Amino acid sequence: MTVNGKETANVAQFNLILLGPPGAGKGTQASRIAAEYAVPHISTGDILRSAVKNQTPMGLEAKRYMDAGDLVPDEVVIGIVKDRLQEPDTAGGFLMDGFPRTIPQAEALDAALESLDRAISKTVVILVDEEDLVRRLSGRRICRGCQAPFHLLFNAPKEEGVCDKCGGELYQRDDDTEATVRNRLAIYRKQTEPLIEYYDRAGLVARIDGAKTPDQVYDEIRSALGPAGE
Ligand code: AP5
Ligand code: ZN
Repeated sequence: MTVNGKETANVAQFNLILLGPPGAGKGTQASRIAAEYAVPHISTGDILRSAVKNQTPMGLEAKRYMDAGDLVPDEVVIGIVKDRLQEPDTAGGFLMDGFPRTIPQAEALDAALESLDRAISKTVVILVDEEDLVRRLSGRRICRGCQAPFHLLFNAPKEEGVCDKCGGELYQRDDDTEATVRNRLAIYRKQTEPLIEYYDRAGLVARIDGAKTPDQVYDEIRSALGPAGE
């Protein structure tokens, strides 16, 4: 098979899922994984926040769920991902961050991939204790330009309020207040955690200790994924 004029038959496809509770460090690790494994980073949270910012009909609908820390309805998010998988840059693989989050979303992704004659290669689960998650989210700041996450204490930008990567302005997400974070964690436990067992049954799960430093966490992820190839 050729993609963009390149022979891909012998190249391993990295169809990756990043799973873990809010604040586990999915976004922090995603950009490094995407760069090293040369796959697009697909964050449903980022796509939804961009729709909210642009006040599209979907964004207006999604906002009330997101502000409360609730999940956006499955059909909306599944539609976003199916559309995204049609883009040519996903042909060699992808990194899903924040999707799937429910069993119906996982089943819809499996069906969509099967119709493309593809399958998940690995599900990386980042695990962190709940009190650490609350601390991480309450000190988090995000770049308005490139969405890179920082932390006031654990991962501080070189210059206060300014993104190291693109110089963009840093802001605090509306759903990073303590009460909303607690609700997001409860929803994670109820609706998203069962996905670990779902992917375990298929032998796809790599559990990563997310309590270490970002560099150490990334090293563990790399060992679990193996070499990027080529
Ligand atoms: P989404 O944007 O996906 O948020 P989330 O899953 O809650 O995850 P976060 O972005 O909060 O955390 P993260 O794991 O990426 O952590 P980060 O790297 O930033 O979803 C938001 C909302 O959108 C949902 O609530 C829902 O409403 C909706 N939504 C999205 N997808 C959906 C779906 N599929 N279905 C339905 N609804 C959906 O790190 C956190 C902080 O910790 C940062 O400050 C970082 O600097 C710091 N940090 C990171 N790593 C470390 C480390 N190793 N040590 C110390 N600090 C660290
Ligand atoms: Zn930036």
